[in-house]
Amino acid sequence: MSTSDGPLSGRHIVLGVTGSIACYKALDITSQLVQAGAVVDIAMTASATKFVTPLTFRSLTAREPYVDMWHPHGEFGEAHVELARRADLMLIAPATASAMARLAHGLADDFVSLTALATEAPLLLAPAMDSQMWSHAATQFNRALLEERGAQFIGPAEGRLASGRTGAGRLVEPRAIVDEVRARLGRERGDLRGRTIIVSAGGTREAIDPVRFVGNHSSGKMGRAIAEAARDRGASVVLVTTVAGDAPSAVRVVSVDSADDMSAAIHERVGKADALIMAAAVADYRPADAAQQKIKRGEVGDISIDLVENEDIIAGVSEPNLVKVAFAAETQDLIANAQKKLASKGAKLIVANDVTATDAGFGTDTNRITILDTDGGREDVPLMTKYECAMRILDRVAELLPRAD
Ligand code: PMT
Repeated sequence: MSTSDGPLSGRHIVLGVTGSIACYKALDITSQLVQAGAVVDIAMTASATKFVTPLTFRSLTAREPYVDMWHPHGEFGEAHVELARRADLMLIAPATASAMARLAHGLADDFVSLTALATEAPLLLAPAMDSQMWSHAATQFNRALLEERGAQFIGPAEGRLASGRTGAGRLVEPRAIVDEVRARLGRERGDLRGRTIIVSAGGTREAIDPVRFVGNHSSGKMGRAIAEAARDRGASVVLVTTVAGDAPSAVRVVSVDSADDMSAAIHERVGKADALIMAAAVADYRPADAAQQKIKRGEVGDISIDLVENEDIIAGVSEPNLVKVAFAAETQDLIANAQKKLASKGAKLIVANDVTATDAGFGTDTNRITILDTDGGREDVPLMTKYECAMRILDRVAELLPRAD
């Protein structure tokens, strides 16, 4: 696998589907896994087939779902054993209370529990049931038993349930489940496993008064993409961001506002990090004195705001062996300006970003970057998604990290 392909490419996932109203969301999970390049085999219980047909899954995976334990599927040996052996990971979504009970007690009387019992691959369960069933002592006992044996639970989420109640029991959203699968596979085999990477994202906000600030156009997308890509390659990721809503799964998110906040959050954690990637657009200046109360129109006439210089966060970090990656957002003389910043920031790499393009830079889902290094090397990365750009940056970071023994 090329490191740029993503952690799901060519990986074999067995998706166990058990009978719940949330079965329809398993279709979305399947589709996302397939689109990310995974080979997906579906195992269904008979009750799951009452909610969604095997035919629908077959259309998405182009593979025959496994439902009947007695149906001769494979050429060699027993189908569930073959399937269990091939799996890089088994995900059960939705996992009902009854499926959890069968798994906890080793009852292998349907294709899902049979395969789960036979596999040595990591087991992820995304439960879905009514809140009373989830909080029932029997279900909690089974959950604890399964966790003790190494199974990982994703959710359930809180919210409105099919019964009309509100509480814990909703299947976690498909995107978050797929992210957990990526993260888990990354931790098993990713080239950045065991590494800690701090990524900064978003534009800092420098207060003028309690309701106004000096800011910029950064959406946080580039930094978020780097955090997700590093997680998918197995790193422990800390995302220090001004855009914390809709946080990525399996990433530690530290929410900040100003450059000072960002600096404190990074300095506190950088001692334990292997790499610092500063994708954030950090304000170089802040208002010298933020007003304590909202400035009222008409009370003071024209106003001017004195600005004082902020700390240069990345330049001020000097941990030995830390791989520092700076970004350079430029509107002119892209490469020359980025080269100057590479030296002044003491970074190993700088990612030059022309922010005048409409399809790259601030707010877009795509980017076009040039990666410069301290040996005079230059890599032009053509237009691609920010996640793909992130993978290219991380390929370079991985080369620079000292060997982990
Ligand atoms: O968030 P998006 O909408 O996805 O947009 C992505 C992006 C355009 C913000 C991103 O790709 C990018 O270019 N980020 C760097 C923005 C920036 O502040 O560049 P700069 O040239 O002003 O700063 C150079 C480097 O020093 C940056 O790594 C910056 O994080 C860092 N810096 C800057 C000022 C400061 N006080 N402390 C810093 O550490």
